[in-house]
Formats: sequence, C-alpha cells, structure tokens
Amino acid sequence: MITTRELYQRLYVYIRPHWWRVALSMVASLGIAATDGAMVKLVQPFVDRLIVAGEREMLILAPFLIIGLQLAKGISRFAQEYYIKSAGQLAIQRIRNHLFEHIMGLSMRFYGRTPNGVLMSKVMNDVGTMQSATAEVLVGVMRDAVSLVVLIGVAFYTDWKMAAIAFLSLPIAAFPAAKIGKKIKRHARSGQAAIGDLNSVLEQTFSGIKVIKAFGTEGQETRRFSFENNRFLSSVRKVIKYDAMAAPFIEVLTGFGAAAVVWYGMQRVIAGEMSQGQLFSVLAAIMLMYAPFKRLTKLNNYMQLAISAAERVFDVFDEKPEIVDAAETVSLGRARGAVTFASVSFAYDRDPVLTDFSLEVQPGEVIAFVGPSGAGKTTLVGLLSRFYDPTSGRILLDGHDLRQISLASLRRNVALVDQETFLFNDTIANNLRYGVPEATEDQVREAARLAYADDFIQQFPEGYATDVGQRGLRISGGQRQRLCIARALLRDAPVLILDEATSALDTESEAMVQKALANLMQNRTTFVIAHRLSTIMNADRIIVLDGGRVVGCGTHQQLLREDGLYRRLYDMQFQDS
Ligand SMILES: Nc1ncnc2c1ncn2[C@@H]1O[C@H](COP(=O)(O)OP(=O)(O)OP(=O)(O)O)[C@@H](O)[C@H]1O
Ligand SMILES: [Mg+2]
Repeated sequence: MITTRELYQRLYVYIRPHWWRVALSMVASLGIAATDGAMVKLVQPFVDRLIVAGEREMLILAPFLIIGLQLAKGISRFAQEYYIKSAGQLAIQRIRNHLFEHIMGLSMRFYGRTPNGVLMSKVMNDVGTMQSATAEVLVGVMRDAVSLVVLIGVAFYTDWKMAAIAFLSLPIAAFPAAKIGKKIKRHARSGQAAIGDLNSVLEQTFSGIKVIKAFGTEGQETRRFSFENNRFLSSVRKVIKYDAMAAPFIEVLTGFGAAAVVWYGMQRVIAGEMSQGQLFSVLAAIMLMYAPFKRLTKLNNYMQLAISAAERVFDVFDEKPEIVDAAETVSLGRARGAVTFASVSFAYDRDPVLTDFSLEVQPGEVIAFVGPSGAGKTTLVGLLSRFYDPTSGRILLDGHDLRQISLASLRRNVALVDQETFLFNDTIANNLRYGVPEATEDQVREAARLAYADDFIQQFPEGYATDVGQRGLRISGGQRQRLCIARALLRDAPVLILDEATSALDTESEAMVQKALANLMQNRTTFVIAHRLSTIMNADRIIVLDGGRVVGCGTHQQLLREDGLYRRLYDMQFQDS
C-alpha cells in the first residue's frame, strides 16, 4: 500500500515537465483573486458615496469599473483553467502511456492472474478518473484557495471582529467535509473495482460469444452483467449521495455566519460604529466566498476519487516484471540452435509441473514431445521461449543460459506457433509480417506458399489485403493455423517451436504442410508437439512425457519396440488400420 505522500510524489514527477503551464495558471489565479478582492473593496465606496451620499462622479465611474473588473476576471479565469487543465491532461497522457508500456513489460505469470477486463479498466477508467478528478483538484486548489484567502483578508481588513464572527463557521464546516471525503474514497474504491469486474464480464462475454450462443446462455450472461452493473451502481450511488451532502452542509453553516454578521453588523451601524458600506462590504465578501469554499470542500471529494484511482494505477506500476534482462547480457546474433535442458524443474505455483528434465539437442535436430494432456509439453517449450524461468536447473541456447541472453536476441532466435492461433484484427499481409515489418512482398508470399496458405489467400477477393476480423475469426481454423505457421516461418529463427501447429488441418493439408516444414526443419532446431502421432513419426528423437517426467525417449521404431506409453498411444490411434 502506498502512502498518500508517496502518491503525490509520484504524481509530481509527471506534472513537473509542465511547470510553466502551472506557473501561468498560478499567476492567473492571483488575477482572479485580485479582481474578487477589488470588487468587495469597491462595495464600500459604492454604498457610502454613491447610494448614501449620492456623489455624481461615482455614478459615472461605477459601470466602467464593474465591466473592467469582470473582463479582467474573465480573462484570468480562462487562462487559469486552460493552462492547469492542459498541464493535467498532458501529465495523465504520459501516465497512461507509461502504464501501457509497463503492462507490456510484465510477465506471463501476471497475465495469468489478472483478467484482461481489469487491465483494460485500469488503463481506461482509473486513469480517466485520475484525469477528471485531478483537473478539478488542480483548478480548485489554485483558483478557489487563492480567492478564499484574498476574500478573508479583505473582510478582516475591513472589520476584523465581524469577519471573525462570520468565519467561525468555516473551521466547523471542515470536520463534516473531511468525514464525507473519507466515505467517498471508500465507496469510490469499491466502485472502481466493480468497474474492473464489469469490464471483465464484458470482455469475456464478447470473446466467448460463440460458446454463449451454442449453450443458449444469453439470459444467464445478461443476469451476470446486470448483477455486476448493480454492484457498480450501489457504490456510485453512495459516492453521489455523500458528494451531494457536502454542499448543503456548508450552505447551512454559512447561513449561521451570515445571520450573525447581519445581526451584529446592524447594531454597530445603528450605534454609528461603522458605515453601511463597510457592512455591505463584509457581507459581499461572505457571499463571494461561499462559492469557492463550497467547491473547496467538494475538492476533497475529488481528491479522494483521484487518490483511490491513482492507488489502483500505481499498484500496477509496482508489479515487477519477473522475466527481465540480466545486468550483463549476451546478444547472440543468429544462434546455431544447440539447446540443452539441464535438470529443469518447474512449478507455476506449488505443484511441480516438470521434474528434473534433461535433454541435449544438436543444431538442426527435430525433437518431438508427446504425452497425455497436461503432461507439461506446452510448459516445456514455454520455458524455452522464456515466458517463465525454471524453478531449478538451466536451459542453454548455444551454451548460454537463457537468463544470460538478452530477451530481444532470444526472441529473435526462437519462433513459436502456438496451440492458440491468434491473429490480429488486420490484413493477412500485416499478420504475416508481424514482428518482421521489413519483409518484402515476395518474402511474405514465399512464407505463405511454404505453409500452404498462398492458395487459399489468393482465392479471397482481396487476397493478401483481406481483413481477418476479430482474432482472425473470419477465417477457418485450418486456414488460421497455416497463417500462423507462415508468420513464424517469416521470422526465420534458428529454433522453431510447433505446439499442435497442424492439429486443425485435414490429413491431406497436414501431409503437405509437413512436407513443407520438413524442408524448413533442415537448417533449424525444431520442437514439435503433437497428439497425432503421424505428425511426429519422422522426428529424430521423440520424448515421451507423463506427469512432467520423461517416460520414454528414442526414435519412433525404438519406442514402439519398448512397449511403453508410446506404444499404447500408438496402438490406440492406429487400432483400425
Ligand atoms: N498458466 C498456468 N498456471 C498454472 N498452471 C498451469 C498453467 N498452464 C498450465 N498449467 C498446468 O500445468 C500442467 C501442464 O500443462 P501444459 O499446458 O504444459 O500441458 P500440455 O502437455 O501442453 O497439455 P496439452 O496436450 O493438453 O496441451 C497442467 O496440469 C496445467 O494444469
Ligand atoms: Mg499443450
């Protein structure tokens, strides 16, 4: 938990570059306060000399003075608000960019435990709340606080006894205002959390729309949404309630102040101790103070809103990426592709997923991992991509521990075709070129051809310019897989990982893609994961995994002879033939 003080310090870092806007705005606040003060001061001669004594020259002067002062105040107000709000906006913009950059740098474990919807709500809503609330706070602190000080000064200068009576109510009003602010912060925080949940529901619903339709659970999802939405509403309603309470409190209290002043002031005017003008001047000060004071008490509420949002934002900033470059890193250039797993063990949480896994792979070798679902195959190649670091043991590429290799150079050397065939909402060409923006049109076509994707791409009316739609949903599963393979081929990395990369293809296309891959595999180390054993029969070595341990290793023929898990899997798949 960060303290409020730390919070301000961290916000200050963002506002500092825009100090001159803040300074301009400050000068403008002084202008506003000065015109307010002058206005109040002028009430006295207006009343005493114009209304009571009836001096002619005051009559001519008064309209000009009023218009002139209002003009000066208007210009000052504009400058004050514009400069401070734009400074706030610029600062928040940078916070949002930094937040996104920071989230991008966080590791897979973080993404595993934080729903996308919550992340989206932090970047959009919480930063947005910070933005609107800090704008109010900045405008208020500068304009209203300065005005208030000047008005109080003028009142005290005119008649300190009366001013003292009038302002006695202000410190009293501060107590309930602070209490209200606390309540607002609490409810605002739960409101912001509720928005995060609401976002998660939205995100999930739209991503899983097909499952929802297929199961006919639209009603259930609607109820879930409305439940979360209600939770949000109940927090927001409390915030509105306490926020609306603040002003009436002040109104009533200033009523007491004004009544006391009128009562006491009238007696002094009647006794001849002060002029009518002085009385009106003090009353005018109280009336003018009322608006800024009311806003200042609301300011505390805004401040609480901003703080609770900022806390949620800075919580993310405090998440440390787990996978980072070491202090001294090696940059590999193009690796040869020798991979060594040395007694690698791994657990996501507590339960071991891989236990003491060792394997030595020569450059250019094709290694297949097979084994039942949940055996740890995807986890193993995930470690090779360094999404996670092993709990114990080491993984080496060309003799360097992965942790010593710069992440950028590691990722350049390892290409991955995942189980999840994710495509960006963009054209086919841009999806293929992803991560390799410099690839020429010919290279893109060549990769597509090797992945047996060129044919079907050509058949689309728009060819390579076809939009694949949300997550590539406008394209069939097998087509999607071929695009993902082509995308990885274009990266031309010396280590290639294919995790169920051909599982969605029909036997014929798979055989073709296999043939294409066979050419490609020649110059690179390839890790293939497949349930369909026909896919991996030709691998140089097949590693059979079960429960995170190696239970068999060898070529297809050797493993068949061994009569272990591999044999059983094989028999089950080829029973009929
Ligand atoms: N992000 C994660 N957090 C926690 N546990 C995980 C995570 N990913 C996988 N696991 C667990 O690790 C184990 C191995 O999962 P893994 O995905 O490596 O299996 P797999 O062999 O690839 O299975 P499949 O053939 O079904 O793809 C499973 O028990 C799974 O529940
Ligand atoms: Mg898997």
